[in-house]
Amino acid sequence: MADELFSNSYISFDVAKELEPNYRIRPLQPSDYHGGFLRTLADLTTVGAITEQRFIDQYEFMKHRQGEYFVVVIENLLTGQVVGTGTLVVEHKFIHECGLVGHIEDIAVAKSEQGKKLGIKLIRALTFIGEKVGCYKIILDCSPHNEQFYVKCGYENGGFEMVKRFDK
Ligand SMILES: CC(C)(COP(=O)(O)OP(=O)(O)OC[C@H]1O[C@@H](n2cnc3c(N)ncnc32)[C@H](O)[C@@H]1OP(=O)(O)O)[C@@H](O)C(=O)NCCC(=O)NCCS
Repeated sequence: MADELFSNSYISFDVAKELEPNYRIRPLQPSDYHGGFLRTLADLTTVGAITEQRFIDQYEFMKHRQGEYFVVVIENLLTGQVVGTGTLVVEHKFIHECGLVGHIEDIAVAKSEQGKKLGIKLIRALTFIGEKVGCYKIILDCSPHNEQFYVKCGYENGGFEMVKRFDK
């Protein structure tokens, strides 16, 4: 069986079966380093130069944090390339009786595959995981021009984001 970041049982069966036959939704695998994962992320933001070893180290770090990092990918089976990705990070809190909050991060669909309902399926898959692991809510940040996409995914505007950057 392929090495995967988390158990495939967290992948929504409904989302998987609604995909066209040439797509597969699954957990991130180490081999995705050579399979378009970073290129897809580059359609979202700066990725930078990441060696294979650094990628594997980060993967192993996440894998050891069982139940915290769920990096989902959509693979185009015709090309063997990752064409969509999104992450759910599960935060453990003291409030709400030591509740869990899900954070949706790093949603990207490759430019050539946008508009095919892959983005909405990624969000549905991450939302499914959040509910399954017991999050009492899921939150995400987005730019105003993407707000309507997330509304179509069933999310609502919950307020403002504040930021202090150290990478300028
Ligand atoms: C935003 C993004 C993830 C959407 O993915 P996608 O696969 O192209 O979107 P989908 O085909 O699943 O769209 C689902 C619905 O949302 C709508 N939609 C998609 N992007 C939208 C946007 N930016 N604004 C408004 N509506 C949008 C679609 O028209 C579609 O509507 P419909 O169901 O009424 O036809 C994708 O365009 C992307 O990766 N963009 C670059 C990276 C990025 O901005 N990521 C989000 C960071 S917050």
